[in-house]
Amino acid sequence: MDFLTNAKARYSVRSFSPRPVEKEKVTIMLEAAQAAPTAHNAQPYVLYVMQSPEALAQIDACSRNRFGAPLVFVICYDKTQAWASPEGTSSGPVDCGIIGTHLMFAAHDLGLGSCWVMRFEASILKQALKLPENLVPVSLMPVGYPSETAVAGPRHSQRKPLLENVLFK
Ligand SMILES: Cc1cc2nc3c(=O)[nH]c(=O)nc-3n(C[C@H](O)[C@H](O)[C@H](O)COP(=O)(O)O)c2cc1C
Repeated sequence: MDFLTNAKARYSVRSFSPRPVEKEKVTIMLEAAQAAPTAHNAQPYVLYVMQSPEALAQIDACSRNRFGAPLVFVICYDKTQAWASPEGTSSGPVDCGIIGTHLMFAAHDLGLGSCWVMRFEASILKQALKLPENLVPVSLMPVGYPSETAVAGPRHSQRKPLLENVLFK
């Protein structure tokens, strides 16, 4: 699938089939994440691949936005590994944003759906996963086969005109 086709066809899936995601597909998504650029190539990300019933229960304890997915990536960065700008701004959130984007488009290319989820309680997740103080969870990403009833949400088609947010100088 060429990139623009992938980018335009993807939508946030909020209803998943319980069908498990094949191990080979998980590996391809992880390869896509590995290929992502990170500031100074620091690769500060840490990905939790949540698939067991216990792990999915931990996700459900901190978020109502799993949507029945059989797999959830927890995308974190290590504060001690991320690059910082001269003003001290950590690259971690941006690095995780790019990692998540690679995961999302790799998933779609593999016939899977995904949803970017920021609506989770970080303190509950940190406790459940016993995250060390240096690990910051940035987002959850439920992934799986869309259910038969999955449809794009109303906001999916609401894109601003192509040049509204663009300035040519
Ligand atoms: C940073 C970010 C956070 C988001 N958090 C959530 C979330 O917590 N729950 C949810 O259902 N969707 C979430 N979304 C999905 C957006 O609502 C969705 O991408 C947007 O409405 C456009 O729809 P589309 O992805 O179907 O094109 C998030 C998306 C982004 C990029």
